[in-house]
Amino acid sequence: MDKLVIKGGKPLRGEIAISGAKNAALPIIVASLLTSDWNTYYNVPKLRDIFTIKRLLENLGVEFEEGDGLRVNASRLKGYMAPYDLVRTMRASILVLGPLIARLGRAKVSLPGGCAIGARPIDLHLKGLAQMGAKISLDQGYIEARANCLKGADIYLDIPTVTGTENLMMAATLAKGITVIKNAAREPEVEALANMLNRCGAKIEGAGTDTIFIEGKNGLSGTEFRIIPDRIEAGTYMIAAGITGGEVIIKDCCLNHMQAIVDKLRDAGLIIEERGRKVFVKATSIHSTDVTTLPYPGFPTDMQAQFMALMCLGDGVSVITERIFENRFMHVLELKRMGADIKIDGSSAVVRGVSCLKGAPVMASDLRASASLVLAGLAARGVTEVYRVYHLDRGYEKIEVKLRALGAEIERVPA
Ligand code: EPU
Repeated sequence: MDKLVIKGGKPLRGEIAISGAKNAALPIIVASLLTSDWNTYYNVPKLRDIFTIKRLLENLGVEFEEGDGLRVNASRLKGYMAPYDLVRTMRASILVLGPLIARLGRAKVSLPGGCAIGARPIDLHLKGLAQMGAKISLDQGYIEARANCLKGADIYLDIPTVTGTENLMMAATLAKGITVIKNAAREPEVEALANMLNRCGAKIEGAGTDTIFIEGKNGLSGTEFRIIPDRIEAGTYMIAAGITGGEVIIKDCCLNHMQAIVDKLRDAGLIIEERGRKVFVKATSIHSTDVTTLPYPGFPTDMQAQFMALMCLGDGVSVITERIFENRFMHVLELKRMGADIKIDGSSAVVRGVSCLKGAPVMASDLRASASLVLAGLAARGVTEVYRVYHLDRGYEKIEVKLRALGAEIERVPA
């Protein structure tokens, strides 16, 4: 198991490119299950989660070809099961449930267990599929779902779940009749999936708003599609520039998807300017700023830990409130080991800015928590060792390579 060793205190300078979005690429690759034609995807990030979804789909008989883009073909499906081994390492595996029922009339998917950031139930996925006519049962830790023919339904989601919306939207593309998803997730990744499905011949309207209409079709065809930039990776590198007092130019990011992030970072003292197709980021001081995570277009929970790292060096007190997941403060104790002053009060963390962080060995607990520890390490005096780097590899492409190109002293070494 590798660790990252970071010698902190160097302002980052230079230019980096943002990769394709993990959380857009995952459902889009899974959506290949809905057609027997070849699909080609460009800008797919090279990440552990993408490798995991490929393994899961290969198990089902899906073929992959790597070239200029990632080519995917699901014409010869030989199974309908997502095993525990793969689902437990990546909860997004649940995304195969809707497409498999829609395409094969049958799916068997391991029920995801607990998670480091919260309970994360999937009841809304199952309720929506049941409303579309799927018969669902639970046996020995597996969800078994069957439907001869899914039918359109009027579905209201109690919570605008991202993968739940994606699962139901994918299932509805091959259902008989019209499905309406109300209180749908509005994330850009949901909209990207709808755009890809529409290019395959699906009829989806309203993706990106809270009501999505899907008219089911008899079949879908293949397409080519470019994965949207990763807004969370872009936000993380913006903070890397800010927390080190550096100046970074970010290429290939989409500020339209990042309004809440950019607004908060500007409140926190970062200068963020769009210059043609690039974004210039710089900070000379860090202002303590409150933030509350919310579904899109609100401030994303996936940026909470990184924003907290920045606030550790703020000029006052910041209150960070987590409203999406109930246990997403695992980074707090690790940041405290680096000298941060943070108190947790229910779903809020009160962060009192300190004049400097000090390097320490720290343990990553989930993907975004790991990113916050790397950011803290880049700003800290001395050496920080971040253990359990595999969490980072799930969602940040070549993080140490990209940071080194900006002048960071960061090495990956066997732990
Ligand atoms: N929820 C339910 N019932 C459900 C589904 C969700 O109660 O059936 C609750 C969850 O427990 C949570 C809230 O609804 O409290 C929102 O969860 P959501 O379902 O939206 O999360 P998700 O779809 O499992 C995706 C991202 C996460 C990101 C969240 C929130 C993917 C593959 N994952 O997860 O990404 O944090 O939306 O924006 O898209 C990450 O990339 O690090 C990551 C965790």
